[in-house]
Amino acid sequence: MSGDEETWRAHERDALAEIAAAADADAIEEARVRHLGRKSELAQALRGVRDRESGMLLNGIRQRLDDAVSAKERELADAELDRRLREEIVDVTLPGDDLTLGHLHPITQVRRTVEDTFLGLGYEVRDDREVETVELNFDKLAFSPTHSARSPRDTFFFDENRVLRTETSPSQIHALQEREPPIYMVSIGRVYRRDAITATRYPIFHQFEGLAVDKGLTLADLKGTLLHVMRALYGPDRRVRFRTHYFPFTEPSIEPDVSCGICGGSGCRTCKFSGWIEMGGAGMVDPRVFENVGVDPGEWSGFAFGCGLERTAQLRHDIPDIRALWEGDLRVLRQF
Ligand code: DAH
Repeated sequence: MSGDEETWRAHERDALAEIAAAADADAIEEARVRHLGRKSELAQALRGVRDRESGMLLNGIRQRLDDAVSAKERELADAELDRRLREEIVDVTLPGDDLTLGHLHPITQVRRTVEDTFLGLGYEVRDDREVETVELNFDKLAFSPTHSARSPRDTFFFDENRVLRTETSPSQIHALQEREPPIYMVSIGRVYRRDAITATRYPIFHQFEGLAVDKGLTLADLKGTLLHVMRALYGPDRRVRFRTHYFPFTEPSIEPDVSCGICGGSGCRTCKFSGWIEMGGAGMVDPRVFENVGVDPGEWSGFAFGCGLERTAQLRHDIPDIRALWEGDLRVLRQF
């Protein structure tokens, strides 16, 4: 055994040196398999042991090699942890990445200005449904049975009785049906028309609709209100004029114009050289509308108006194409 013993001692020294030299997890695993694995010289010799002496020698070698492998594995794991702690350190005192803050869409900005302005006048702000009955969208607003807006070519019908509202005017009926006058309300939201998309038309757009019902209201009240609102929207120097017009639910009906802010009223491309820009529709509530909702037109009078929010945003910011307000292109929207 003594010659053998020498050989085994030398084998142990070589193996320990190899284990000590292992530089990473792969190398230590390789050394373990070679010297302690099932097919290793040591394991094979242990299987053939017949006497106690060589059994003790070989088991002793196995134990020491095992310990050396475990110690080396721990050392490598510690070194790896140290490396990661060093390299992956987070400096919490460094400044963070800038968050890019967005802002409100120009339509929402206009909507809020309209809301603020009417709240300042003591109006209630409403939000009514977009799927409306034919009764409220047309009948109660005194649209004649043959009015062109009732055509499925102009309006999105779900069935005979329901449409996507074509205007915010049915809010007048909702408000009047819900409670007794006096009423001062503004309703803001989306409306729908079957128009092809062009620079000036879009099949979805927004309107704000106002209604004031009280005792003794006149066109002068309407004019004063619109003047106040147009100045809030476009600036203090604006003037307002009325042109006669026709709407089924107002009598008399008018279209308000606001003086052009680009040229100050002297005439330019934006106002088509007239000095004035059309703002929407308005008028004194038609007695038939009051009768349709059971309000006595002898006792109450009122005025109403409706304007487009896209148009307002376009005029405010001089945006030539309505599509820009629907495309969500940040290069455009960032400017407002
Ligand atoms: N609803 C009309 C439209 O969409 C606008 C309008 C005109 C609203 C007269 C009114 C009004 O309240 O009195 O063209």
